[in-house]
Amino acid sequence: MKTRASVLTAIGAPSPYARSRPLIVEELDLRGPGPGEVLLAIKAAGLCHSDLSAIDGARPRERTPLPIVLGHEAVGEVLEVGAGVNDLRAGDRVVTTFVPSCGHCVPCMEGRPALCEPAPGYSAAGTLATGGTRFSRGTEPVHHYVGVAAFSEYTVMARNSLVRIDGDIPVEVGALFGCAVLTGVGAVLNTARVKAGEAVAIVGLGGVGMSALLGARLAGAFPIVAVDLHPEKLRVAGEIGADLTVAADDPDCIARIRDATHGGVHFAFEMAGAAKSFDIAYRVTRRGGTTVIGGLPPGNVQLPVAQASIVAEERTIKGSYFGSAVPLRDIPRFIALHREGRLPVDRIAGEAVRLDGLNEAFDLLASGAPLRQVLLPTS
Ligand SMILES: NC(=O)c1ccc[n+]([C@@H]2O[C@H](COP(=O)([O-])OP(=O)(O)OC[C@H]3O[C@@H](n4cnc5c(N)ncnc54)[C@H](O)[C@@H]3O)[C@@H](O)[C@H]2O)c1
Ligand SMILES: [Zn+2]
Ligand SMILES: [Zn+2]
Repeated sequence: MKTRASVLTAIGAPSPYARSRPLIVEELDLRGPGPGEVLLAIKAAGLCHSDLSAIDGARPRERTPLPIVLGHEAVGEVLEVGAGVNDLRAGDRVVTTFVPSCGHCVPCMEGRPALCEPAPGYSAAGTLATGGTRFSRGTEPVHHYVGVAAFSEYTVMARNSLVRIDGDIPVEVGALFGCAVLTGVGAVLNTARVKAGEAVAIVGLGGVGMSALLGARLAGAFPIVAVDLHPEKLRVAGEIGADLTVAADDPDCIARIRDATHGGVHFAFEMAGAAKSFDIAYRVTRRGGTTVIGGLPPGNVQLPVAQASIVAEERTIKGSYFGSAVPLRDIPRFIALHREGRLPVDRIAGEAVRLDGLNEAFDLLASGAPLRQVLLPTS
């Protein structure tokens, strides 16, 4: 069949993308679904900073195979299932996940599917977990970003990259559960296991950081400190539950947070993917506390910490990938919490974007200003 998709053909195009236009809307051929695969109509797809990192080449170690269809956080409707897929049928709604867990490697068996061993190999190759690509233009294969490729009207995915959901959640909100919510809420509940009354700081308030803020609120953290460079982000953070908001470029930023939390927070979350935001997160973590890193900086960024401080202050630095999530457990429970009003993800969803507006939308994302923008591919 044919699908209109946004295709990335070159990495590192100069900004603004509105002028250099690294993303081009093209009509592609789409084959499948083969055994273990599912054909989806993408209803909504969020724009994540990790897509931007593929466009600007911020993470060269994971060089992205080109051409490629980006997008890794979406709600789709099942149109057709391949052989052997017996637990999904046409009309089902699904949330996509960007780590297709195999279910039988050591991390999967240990309940840590975010660390599934074969998954990074498929992502690096730009193929599905079931092997190969399903998109092409003429004879040339077009790759799938992290097995999802959601910036398209239609896509084919491996069954084990999908989580079935009830159909009642608005698609532009449901899409966020695939990355931002799973990553941000998961970092708080799964990676850090924050307890009621513990002090939390979140540095970087994109879709991931705002989700962490919602997660901290859900966990009963107090006080919750939110840090960003953008005043509008701080305003929204105050509305959705931050007890204190601090501008990252305030010269007194660190002192203010340490004062307000009697020496620092139990858990600080670095959610911007920058060396400067890690510096804030580390310095506002209290003695004995934990600094959780969820942001993904360029591959050459090294941690700048004094080794002795880890020992003498009994600090922990902890990475959080994919919210240390078990998607089949966490996506349905986070959606249930949303339905009850306890995880108001609708408050962090931003503007709708069309396929031909993605270059402009990524310019906006690069500025750090917008709430989570959501592509509606068929609008
Ligand atoms: N760990 C994971 O599994 C995972 C999953 C998804 C995204 N990510 C990464 O998480 C990060 C955040 O993603 P996003 O989509 O929410 O990004 P985003 O671009 O939407 O938001 C980033 C926010 O950080 C703010 N910021 C930038 N520099 C800052 C600084 N020095 N101090 C304070 N705030 C600063 C920006 O103003 C913006 O509000 C990215 O690095 C992304 O690649 C990681
Ligand atoms: Zn993401
Ligand atoms: Zn596995």
